[in-house]
Amino acid sequence: MKKILVTGGLGFIGSHTVVELQNSGFDVVIIDDLSKTRISVLDKITEITGKKPDYHNIDLRVKNDVKNFFDNNKIDGIIHFAAFKAVGESMHKPLDYYENNIGSLVYILQEMRDRKLDNFIFSSSCTVYGQADELPITENAPVKTAESTYGNTKQIGEEIIKETCKAHLLNAIALRYFNPIGAHESVKIGELPLGVPQNLIPFVTQTAAGIRTELSVFGNDYPTEDGTAVRDYIHVVDLAKAHIAALQRLINKNNKQNFEFFNVGTGTGSSVLEVIKAFEKASGKSLNYKIVGRREGDITAAYADTTIANTELNWKTEKTLDEALESAWKWQQQN
Ligand code: UD1
Repeated sequence: MKKILVTGGLGFIGSHTVVELQNSGFDVVIIDDLSKTRISVLDKITEITGKKPDYHNIDLRVKNDVKNFFDNNKIDGIIHFAAFKAVGESMHKPLDYYENNIGSLVYILQEMRDRKLDNFIFSSSCTVYGQADELPITENAPVKTAESTYGNTKQIGEEIIKETCKAHLLNAIALRYFNPIGAHESVKIGELPLGVPQNLIPFVTQTAAGIRTELSVFGNDYPTEDGTAVRDYIHVVDLAKAHIAALQRLINKNNKQNFEFFNVGTGTGSSVLEVIKAFEKASGKSLNYKIVGRREGDITAAYADTTIANTELNWKTEKTLDEALESAWKWQQQN
């Protein structure tokens, strides 16, 4: 049985990926410092899969603790989620973001190099494309200067991995996520935003639940069909499955280059107003919202061309936007 280390394995995407890994027959060891999640997620994963993953509370910024972990665990592959991801916060705390998102990555890669470990999957983001000149966005679209420190940590992270692959013959895949939403069908795991949600879907579900009085729609003067911004919302379980496909590609040595990257989205763009309508249908509730000005740093439209991911990873999304919104609403009601 292959043993896979999942850093940030108790977070939103991490926890769903751990479930899919265990369901696919992998042995999982999680590292999470609980800075953005709760330990109860470990029990929920256990309830869903019937198997408790090995868990270590380690701060990956502490080099010696990272080294100790690798001294004591034999690992066949790593999926590295652990990182800060709040765009706004990253602009006020750049050094914290570089220390956490870049420092930890370097320490892990050093341990992999020293032990000749292989098979590394990195959580990247469609944010690396900025406002792409052409839609849908293919992997050939250029990486643009990052608008935020968070976005820059993803670009720099990819560069570090690429150069490490070249110098040390490591094999790695970066997955560039579009907008992950939704929750597991068991309603045992989902997104746990701390404080006021910055992302659309948690704000929508909290408004419907009466926790927030009103959703602000950021801008209706974009050059899109209804004037609101367009994104590619992907069900987190579909996204989790893309990690299994990427890992299997590396383990089976089916990769064509030692550093590869893929777009992970649905291929369909939805506007904010379309999401609101779909949510109202899925939940049976009408949503209190108003149009306000644009949010700084937002782009007009981003959705993936998934052709390369579909063919190379032999993976495709199975769930619809309606299913994703329905699961997000169930999850909200449960909490
Ligand atoms: C944001 C980040 C992105 C990150 C992703 C996942 C920015 C500029 N980008 O993507 O780097 O990978 O989150 O964490 O922050 N919206 C509203 N009202 C709200 C919230 C959002 O109208 O209260 C709109 C936004 O303007 C946007 C869409 O909903 O058009 C999606 O927003 P959001 O969920 O924050 O995701 P992104 O901005 O696409």
